Amino acid sequence: IPVAPFDYVVFGGTGDLALRKLLPALYHRHQDQQITGPSRIIAVARSALSRDAYIAKVLEWLKGQVGSDFDEATWAAFADRIHYVAVDATGDAGWPDLAAALADGGSKVRVFYLATAPDLFGPICRSLKAAGLATPDSRVVLEKPIGTDLASARKINDEVGAVFAEQQIYRIDHYLGKETVQNLLALRFANSLFEPLWSSAWIDHVQITVAETVGVESRAGYYDKSGALRDMVQNHLLQLLCLVAMEPPRQMDKDAVRDEKLKVLRALKPMKAPDVLSSIVRGQYKAGASRGEGVPGYLDELGHESHTETFVALKVEIQNWRWAGVPFYLRTGKRMSEKVSEIAIQFRPVPHSIFPADAGVIDPNRLIVRLQPNEGIRLHMMTKEPGPGGLRLRPASLNLSFAETFKIRNPDAYERLLMDVVRGNPTLFMRRDEVEAAWTWVEPILETWERRAEPPKPYVAGTTGPAAAIALIERDGRTWNEEA
Ligand code: BG6
Repeated sequence: IPVAPFDYVVFGGTGDLALRKLLPALYHRHQDQQITGPSRIIAVARSALSRDAYIAKVLEWLKGQVGSDFDEATWAAFADRIHYVAVDATGDAGWPDLAAALADGGSKVRVFYLATAPDLFGPICRSLKAAGLATPDSRVVLEKPIGTDLASARKINDEVGAVFAEQQIYRIDHYLGKETVQNLLALRFANSLFEPLWSSAWIDHVQITVAETVGVESRAGYYDKSGALRDMVQNHLLQLLCLVAMEPPRQMDKDAVRDEKLKVLRALKPMKAPDVLSSIVRGQYKAGASRGEGVPGYLDELGHESHTETFVALKVEIQNWRWAGVPFYLRTGKRMSEKVSEIAIQFRPVPHSIFPADAGVIDPNRLIVRLQPNEGIRLHMMTKEPGPGGLRLRPASLNLSFAETFKIRNPDAYERLLMDVVRGNPTLFMRRDEVEAAWTWVEPILETWERRAEPPKPYVAGTTGPAAAIALIERDGRTWNEEA
């Protein structure tokens, strides 16, 4: 369904995110004819580039990103939509040029996408206001991270909030735009099968894994000030946890969904210093191998000593009736053995076995939601081993592969989210109170780490993380799901 004509103003237009994600996402939306009429993409950055030079840069990246979906005719029409304006985000230069570029915008939807460092969000919004560009209908999109702690998140939210009303602000967590993450909502709320089992009565524990094979490479500068807890857990992993744990919202509506997620964030058991020591493992990768090739360690890439974690595993509890006593084990890391994001729901064992001991072990049911790659849902269950012999039990699985079932291209998360902004639908974006509730929970962990100043546990690149992370779950008589 086509969206209304728009002007997408992308600050940080020459940056990695814009070139790698935003422009390719808009290209795909254009290719699918969702972008209509006189819609424009106005890239903004500090460099004094000509429009042609910018378009050439986009083309170079786009070909690599969209692969076989690239075609010259689509590109030519898409390139016509692209403009470039050089603006100094923290100074005065360029703002009149941006105003002039937007002057003929007419009644189009106006979106400012801030794909910049978060300390520029406030200054850019102030300048937009001073230049008279922030109209009551325009929207602003903020990329994560929103700050580095609660105070800085509040400051950013205040600064942006002084220019834009909350309903104009779209805080992106791109995980919420992933097809498989939205599918969690369908799994839970468009099927009646799971909901009666979705509580401590039937669920033993939940695991959320977001493992990457990449290292920090050129992002070491940013990453070293962040670390895995701020970069991944505060946002992506907690959002996933919310979608798994929240109560059914009244309807698929921006406030109903976000109210329920907020309740989960507020019910997270606070991590006091002893909990931080017993329930969290931090790791940092050393040199090793990734897919058969030698790769340097984090400190080699960074070039100096650092205690920043590139891996974290946590045991988290939700203090409410539904989840009391059900641990949520979360883990995420760079330079792991596999790229895999998945949620594993482990059900309780059968209360009593009717089978003789030699029938074999009865594994508890496990529901795996594969977020990426090989997107799908798998239910592990016990079956009878085929054959005329005695009754022996064997695990098997029901397997739903999205690629095989639907046979369509899996759109990138940004494609959905960028169009949701134009449609004025913030359901899959984070509200201010959610971001701040997540920081409120994360902050004591950061403070304890800082106070103790202990180095993270080393792990060899290309492995599943430090041994202590395995011990974290095995201590409870459980194991990480390693079927990937
Ligand atoms: C980003 C993090 O938000 O998410 C990156 O800053 C991380 O460090 C990325 O690599 C992972 O996203 P995806 O979509 O590749 O799983």
